[in-house]
Amino acid sequence: MQSNKHRLDRFISVTTGINRKHVRLLLAQKRILINGDPASEINQVIGQFDKVELDNQVLQNQKPIYLMVHKPVGVVSATKDDRHKTIIDTLPSNYQDLHICGRLDLNSSGLLLLTNDGQWSRALTSPENKIKKVYEVTLENPLTEEYAPAFAKGMYFSYEDITTRPATLEVVSENIARVTLEEGRYHQIKRMFGRFRNPVIKLHRVSIGAIMLCSTLAPGEYRELTQEELEQLSK
Ligand code: URA
Repeated sequence: MQSNKHRLDRFISVTTGINRKHVRLLLAQKRILINGDPASEINQVIGQFDKVELDNQVLQNQKPIYLMVHKPVGVVSATKDDRHKTIIDTLPSNYQDLHICGRLDLNSSGLLLLTNDGQWSRALTSPENKIKKVYEVTLENPLTEEYAPAFAKGMYFSYEDITTRPATLEVVSENIARVTLEEGRYHQIKRMFGRFRNPVIKLHRVSIGAIMLCSTLAPGEYRELTQEELEQLSK
């Protein structure tokens, strides 16, 4: 099923082929259990992570997964790709159904979040929620004092007909900047430095919201998010 929430009668009918009218009977006979309790409302909303059983047969029992991956350079942030290894290819079989929340370019590295929770990833990537993403950027040429105001003002991208939202640029050293974005336009950072004709040599994502890339994760390594990280993110 595509969406993450369904009415109970539709859910049962789509997953089992049982006619929706007959679902009422099953309900009256208390043969449907939701999270272990007999269902009572035909229009009860079933979420992606609700356990649903019919006559002791499990119809749905998915656990939410939230994964932090240290994306290495040269791996694609995608689930399928004909030419390059994808981040999913690097993960074990129990993580093959995850999707990516906010991509990184092929030659970028750093924090990638993956999940099977569509609601969570939508909230994380929706520009309205203004979740800050921090990048460390190494440039070919030295930075000047013109950069920070231009990033803060926003830049017009004619292809999409948008002006980028205010972004923060801090100078870390002559050729290294720390950039904070609240959105994720296509090749956004490279295009913003492109306005100064200053090619990006290295681009590494350090954090997304309150979640920092764990310093003990080497490129290619991953771990599940802790409860504390999940709570910090939803604050
Ligand atoms: N901006 C880019 O240009 N590339 C990335 O991978 C992320 C942000």
